[in-house]
Amino acid sequence: MCGIIGYTGKRNALPILLDGLKRLEYRGYDSAGISILNNNSLIRLRAVGQLSALEKRLNDELNKSMADGATGIAHTRWATHGSPTENNAHPHADCADKLHLVHNGIIENYQTLKSSLESAGHIFSSETDTEALAHLIEQEINNGQSLDEAVMTAVQQIKGTLGLAVVAANEPDKIVAARRSSPLLLGIGQGEYFIASDPSAIIPHTSQVIYLKDDEFAIITPAGYEIKSLSGQSVAPRTETIDWSISEITRGGYDTFMEKEIFEGPSAIANALRGRLLPDDGNVKLGGLDAAENKLRYIDKLVIVSCGTSYYAGLAGAMMIEEYAKLPVAVLHASEFRYRDIPLDKNTAVLAISQSGETADTLAAIHEAKKRGLLTLGIVNVVGSSIARETEAGVYNHAGPEISVASTKAFISQLTVLGLLTVYLGRTRTMPLAIGQRIVRELARLPDLTESILKQAHKICAIAERYNSFKNFLYIGRKYNYPTALEGALKLKEISYIHAEGYPGGELKHGPLALVTTDLPTVAIVLRDSIYEKMLSNIQEIRARQGPIIAIATENDARLSELADDIFYMPKTIEMLSPILAVIPLQLFAYEVAKLHGRDIDKPRNLAKSVTVE
Ligand code: AGP
Ligand code: GLU
Repeated sequence: MCGIIGYTGKRNALPILLDGLKRLEYRGYDSAGISILNNNSLIRLRAVGQLSALEKRLNDELNKSMADGATGIAHTRWATHGSPTENNAHPHADCADKLHLVHNGIIENYQTLKSSLESAGHIFSSETDTEALAHLIEQEINNGQSLDEAVMTAVQQIKGTLGLAVVAANEPDKIVAARRSSPLLLGIGQGEYFIASDPSAIIPHTSQVIYLKDDEFAIITPAGYEIKSLSGQSVAPRTETIDWSISEITRGGYDTFMEKEIFEGPSAIANALRGRLLPDDGNVKLGGLDAAENKLRYIDKLVIVSCGTSYYAGLAGAMMIEEYAKLPVAVLHASEFRYRDIPLDKNTAVLAISQSGETADTLAAIHEAKKRGLLTLGIVNVVGSSIARETEAGVYNHAGPEISVASTKAFISQLTVLGLLTVYLGRTRTMPLAIGQRIVRELARLPDLTESILKQAHKICAIAERYNSFKNFLYIGRKYNYPTALEGALKLKEISYIHAEGYPGGELKHGPLALVTTDLPTVAIVLRDSIYEKMLSNIQEIRARQGPIIAIATENDARLSELADDIFYMPKTIEMLSPILAVIPLQLFAYEVAKLHGRDIDKPRNLAKSVTVE
């Protein structure tokens, strides 16, 4: 989802901006553009489609002024208002072409603003909501305000979300940036400064960043930076260090980031567990929850809010916490949470699960929970992200950057952290020492168990070759592996574009069985656990209708070999942790099928890595 990078300093801006856009590509986009400020002139180039189209335009039309400019802004757009065209691509300009800006987010009141500005004589050249902001700032400057003041005055009139960077021809080497709900950070170099929507855009240049908070502004020039509040008051800087390395945001020899991140599953688990297991005490240490330790002892309900893959992690986590911590848990799509009038009281805690920590729906749900005075918690991967900062306490995944749009290692990490949280909550309630010790012991085995599964990845390749021509799939599982079935179906859908539906096995006879023919393969998670016999019944139901069956099974399960057409065996663990293992063959299956279909696996059509619009 859209990306911003800005630079001002002593080096040529163009290569830094272009490289930054490439590091933001993984977020998903449909067009891109760059503006360079040099000798009081602004030069802009934009292009539809992949960055290669913009690079071509730069090669064909680059002039010396653009090449030598040391200040500039750039953007990858994920269209919300106005189709993906060159004219709608950012940066957008004012009437006089003396001010360019790039914007992430949605200006909800842009129609009103646009009508008023057009009545005042402003000429619009695009269909976007963003352009209204350029003319609004121009109007404030024409009313005698400085660029800094004009941006603040304009932002005060905006309803909606923004990450914003502005340059003006008469303010050489200055960039004014602002943030409201859409992530934006300031990068601090040696005599050079950056604006970016994501740290990966500027990692080669600095690890020192300042995350802007809502309604904060940054004014940067090569001489330094200033942070101000919406009222113009100076804000004390609060520098943070990004602990990512370049190798973590490059493919490192894998064909795609998704493949790399699937194979990083074991290390993602190990990182989530590091320093947190207390095997002798049958307990865990989660320092990020210390601030809420007392409140957590007395809550009598937990509400999990999340989206997509993170929602499926929440479904599995809810079962863990209910079974082992005896705490009632409701799991809601974050986008639904705000419209539901759920009975919540001061003994309810709201837990946001989010890899990016920037998902607009999940962030909005946290804002809603805070408005109701509830304890808010987060399980987040990106350090310093909005959800991490706006929840009262939480647990970082430490899974490292997840670049591919399709979430894989983050899901495994989220389930691992939910296992830790289960022990944390359980041991302050009724969970006996022995159970705590058993779960902690099994958690510690997960990196090796997942490694052993990945060593069999070639078996999934063979299965994918046999099934990749089918047009529809059914995924079924029960209890802890019903969410796994949902996640497996989502993975196949979102990267191969083949339709797949996840269902609880028990629901098959209530409708989906009507779909089962030789043309509809079913991926069934049939492990030697408490619902094994029930899943076997599902297998029989499907076989009776000649439906092909791919079974994810527990190693040495001989009974299934007579029932399933293809089987992937996995090692045994305790039932509550089995989704962490069972999902890996499903991730690999989706990956291999998508590869056979020649899909753009890391950047699937229409999707974005972090959905920062509601
Ligand atoms: C997962 O493969 C998808 N990319 C998507 O469903 C994602 O899980 C969802 O948008 C939530 O993202 P978050 O975890 O960053 O909040
Ligand atoms: N709403 C703006 C547009 O449609 C910005 C979209 C984005 O965040 O990329 O151009």
